[in-house]
Amino acid sequence: MAEEAVLGFLQTKEHISDSHEFAASIGVSHTELENLIKSLKGFQIVDAQEITRESWVLTEEGKTYMVNGSPEALFFSAIPPEGISRSNLKEKLGAEIFDLGSKAAAKNKWITFEKDLVKRKVESVQDEVKNVLARINSGEAVGDQVINDLKRRKLIIKQTWKGYSLKKGPKYVSKRKKPETDLTREHIVSGDWKNLEFKEYNLNAEAPQIQAGYLHSLLEVREQIQNIFLEMGFEEMPTNNFVESSFWNFDALFQPQQHPARDSHDTFFLETPASTQNLPEDYLGRVKLVHESGGYGSKGYGYDWKREDAEKNLLRTHTTAVSTRMLYALAQQDTFTPKRYYSIDRVFRNEAVDRTHLAEFHQIEGLICDRGLTLGDLIGVLEDFFSRLGMSKLRFKPAYNPYTEPSMEIFSYHDGLQKWVEVGNSGMFRPEMLLPMGLPEDVNVIAWGLSLERPTMILYGISNIRDLFGPKVDFNLIKSNPICRLGL
Ligand code: PHE
Repeated sequence: MAEEAVLGFLQTKEHISDSHEFAASIGVSHTELENLIKSLKGFQIVDAQEITRESWVLTEEGKTYMVNGSPEALFFSAIPPEGISRSNLKEKLGAEIFDLGSKAAAKNKWITFEKDLVKRKVESVQDEVKNVLARINSGEAVGDQVINDLKRRKLIIKQTWKGYSLKKGPKYVSKRKKPETDLTREHIVSGDWKNLEFKEYNLNAEAPQIQAGYLHSLLEVREQIQNIFLEMGFEEMPTNNFVESSFWNFDALFQPQQHPARDSHDTFFLETPASTQNLPEDYLGRVKLVHESGGYGSKGYGYDWKREDAEKNLLRTHTTAVSTRMLYALAQQDTFTPKRYYSIDRVFRNEAVDRTHLAEFHQIEGLICDRGLTLGDLIGVLEDFFSRLGMSKLRFKPAYNPYTEPSMEIFSYHDGLQKWVEVGNSGMFRPEMLLPMGLPEDVNVIAWGLSLERPTMILYGISNIRDLFGPKVDFNLIKSNPICRLGL
C-alpha cells in the first residue's frame, strides 16, 4: 500500500526527494501518490514541498528510431560492400528514410557518393542515436550536446513534471490509525471506545445528492399556501372540473353576456360538447331576471338575457366558478352555516403567451361566507393571509369586478424588488350574485384570488414563466431548487 510505503520510508530516511521517482519505485501512479500526499499533508503527517522537474521524452519519431534504428544507420546497413545505385537504395529504403539517412550518414562521414553509386566509407558503424534515445527513454541523463542535437531533429521534447519532496510532518506517525466513523454497540460492550479515535464531524461536507423524484416548485408553493389556508380554518373546494358552463363561470356571477371576457378572444369555448344541458331551472330563472331587470334593490343590466349563451361550455377562466357552485349549494341547505372555502387549481384564458403570461395558470382562491361581514373583515383576513406568506406590507386599490362591490386590487411591497407588486384581486360578492342563490339577506361573502405562478416566480427568482411551467421547463431547475422559504 502506498501509504505504508511513504510512512515506512520516512521512518528511516530524512526525506523523499522526488514523488515521481518514488511513485515509480513502489509501482503506483503519480496521481494516486499525489492524492495520498494531499491527505497526509492535511493531517500534518508529512510536510510536502512542491517541486518541478524537467525531463526529456521521445517524440513519436524518436520512439520509432529507438525501436527500428536511426535513418542514417538504416541507410548505412542497406549499402552492400560493393556499393549500390542511388535509385536502388531509394527503392529499398523508401524516400523518407533515404533522404534523412543520406544527409546524416554523409555528415557522419560514413558514406561517399561516386557518381550515381553510394559506397560505404567505413567498415562498420554504431547507431549512437538509437542507443542514446533508449537511454533517455529509461530516464538516464545524457550530455547537453546530444540533447541539443536530438531536440533539433525533433526526436525528443522537454516535459515539465510537478511533484513533491516529502519529509516528516509535526504529526508524523509510522502507521496512521484509521479514525472510526461510528460508535457501535460492540465498541461499548468491549470497552474499545476508550482507545479509539473518532473521526470529527465535517460540517462543511456537501450532502450527497439524493437521486429521487422532486416536487415541482409550483407544487411546493401550493402545499405551503394550502397549509396556510388549513391553519386559518378553510376547507378545500372540489375543483376537479376544468370544463364549466358559461352559466357558472359568468352568468351566476352577474357578469353580463356582452362582457368582453366572454368573447372567444379571451376565453376557450368547447366545440364538443358545445353546450350544457343541466342547469338548475329555478335559479337560472332568477339569474336571468337579475341580469335583465334587477331586483334585490338592483336595476340589473337591462338587456335580453339568452339561455344559449349561458349554456356554452368553456374551460373555466377562474375558480370563482367553483366558489359560485359552492355558495349555491350552501344556499340550498335548510339552515345557513358560515363557511371558509379555498382552492388552488388550474384556470384557462385565451392569452398571447409571453414572459409573464400563459394560456393556463393556477388560481388561488379564498372566500368566507358569514353574516354581517364587512370590508374591514376582508382587509383583516387579507393581512393575516398575506403576512403568513411573508408579505406583511399591503396596500389596496379600488378596482372593478362584475361580481364584487367593493373590489380591491392587492399590492404588496417586495423588499427584494424594492417596489409594490400586484399580488391579487378581492372583493365582496354583490347581492345580485348572492340573493338569487337564496342566501339570507344578512349573509356576505368576502373573497380574493391570486395566481400561484406569480408568488412562485418571485420566491424562486424566475423571470420567464415558461421556465416554470410548460414544455420548456428544465428538470435540473426543479432538482436544484432550494427548499422553498416563503417571504424571501
Ligand atoms: N376571479 C378573480 C380573478 O380571476 C379573482 C377574485 C376572486 C376576485 C374572488 C374577487 C373575488 O382574478
